[in-house]
Amino acid sequence: MKKLKEDGYCWCGSGKTYGSCHMEFDRKIEMYRKKFHKVPPRNIIKNEEQIAGLRESSKINIAVLDYVSEHIREGMATEEIDKMVYEQTKAMGGIPAPLNYEGFPKSVCTSVNEQVCHGIPSKKIWLQDGDIVNVDCSTNYKGYYSDSSRMFCIGNVPEDKRRLVKTAKECVEKGLEEVKPWGHLGDVANAINMHARANGYKVVRDVGGHGIGLAFHETPFVSYVIKKGTGMLMAPGMVFTIEPMVNMGTDKIYIDENNNWTIYTDDGLPSAQWEIMVLVTETGHEVLCW
Ligand code: MF3
Ligand code: CO
Repeated sequence: MKKLKEDGYCWCGSGKTYGSCHMEFDRKIEMYRKKFHKVPPRNIIKNEEQIAGLRESSKINIAVLDYVSEHIREGMATEEIDKMVYEQTKAMGGIPAPLNYEGFPKSVCTSVNEQVCHGIPSKKIWLQDGDIVNVDCSTNYKGYYSDSSRMFCIGNVPEDKRRLVKTAKECVEKGLEEVKPWGHLGDVANAINMHARANGYKVVRDVGGHGIGLAFHETPFVSYVIKKGTGMLMAPGMVFTIEPMVNMGTDKIYIDENNNWTIYTDDGLPSAQWEIMVLVTETGHEVLCW
């Protein structure tokens, strides 16, 4: 029986034999599962072909964000950012993933100052001197999804807001250092949460990162407030985003009742977020998109 299975095709779709592909992986997963660790389901483990597709999609997403970073400026309406993202993504053969996603009306999220995330581009929101803005860009290329976001400082941004933006980026970097096979998502969360707190900030609890690949949002939910050694085990072939929202004041948030999307800080103080998309490899990780 065992021999037959070893000689058969691997469940990952690689076309290789199970014995030469994920057999050892499954043995490890089973060992952790028996010790009550939360293990990743098979359907989120990507094979080489899928990883290649995600790399291509990510290249487009990075190029779109590079384009935005070259053209974003004071006085611009956030709707103009939406137009840039739509046109650039299309020109490279991609589809902006947010457009019509669960009713989202635009191609990109633009979240200014106290907007935590999911800001909707508008003709009536102009970037002003001193603003900080997150541009969250996601691409569907041939069914492969990519997702990353960056912060931009408009004109003369006060020192306290600059520090928030810088710390939010460092949080992602600290979290990334923890991404390796057979570690836990809680290790990533802990590194991020500790760095935010050490700087006097709070991470948002209710919104987080996510698995990504053949769908825009896949399991697991990537929290930044769970404890070290808890949460899902990271395994080679897993792809997820790290996108902590770091608040200057309270971690309390509320959702805009008018559009049911945009999230704001409850105290009106600014929030910053950077997002990367990362692949867990045999030896550590590979950043696909930033
Ligand atoms: N990176 C964001 C997220 O995963 C992108 C949201 S796009 C939206 O939540 F369409 F869902 F708003
Ligand atoms: Co995301």
